[in-house]
Amino acid sequence: MDFLELVKQRYSERNFADTPIEKGELDKILEAGRLVPTACNYQPQKFYVLKSKKALELAATVTPFTYNAPVMILVCFDKNEVWKNKREEGYHSGEQDASIAATTMMYEAETLGIHSLWIRGFNSKIATETFKLPENIVPVMFLALGYPSEKSKPSDWHFMRKNINEMVVEL
Ligand SMILES: Cc1cc2nc3c(=O)[nH]c(=O)nc-3n(C[C@H](O)[C@H](O)[C@H](O)COP(=O)(O)O)c2cc1C
Repeated sequence: MDFLELVKQRYSERNFADTPIEKGELDKILEAGRLVPTACNYQPQKFYVLKSKKALELAATVTPFTYNAPVMILVCFDKNEVWKNKREEGYHSGEQDASIAATTMMYEAETLGIHSLWIRGFNSKIATETFKLPENIVPVMFLALGYPSEKSKPSDWHFMRKNINEMVVEL
């Protein structure tokens, strides 16, 4: 499929089916997250795969937006491995690198017919404590993954995008 068609087709899934995701499919999604570009190629992204009943129950205590997804990936970065911008004190690439990985995994999933939801509706400190993340690991988002159910459909927000001329400025 043409990539732009894939971009139009994807929507935030909030009605996951119970169908499990096969290991081979999940491996392809994680591989997409491994291969992304990162600042200076430092590759600080870390993926915590949550698929056991216990791990998914814990995720549901951290965020209300799980929608019974059979798999969730807590996408993080290692703050000891981020690129630090010498030209701007305090600026590092952690969130950007993790977000490129998450976005790429989201679209790889879509090519496999696996829907997703990007979740940032949680408190970082609570996620860190709940999953006992090491001190150097910073949680960025959950990527909920699963097949659509018969109730699945895009929300109204999916169709509400600004016009291109509200986003693009030619300088
Ligand atoms: C950074 C970010 C954070 C988001 N956090 C949540 C969330 O916590 N819960 C949720 O239900 N959706 C969340 N979403 C999904 C957005 O609401 C959704 O992408 C947007 O409304 C457009 O709809 P669409 O993805 O169906 O096109 C998030 C999306 C992004 C990019």
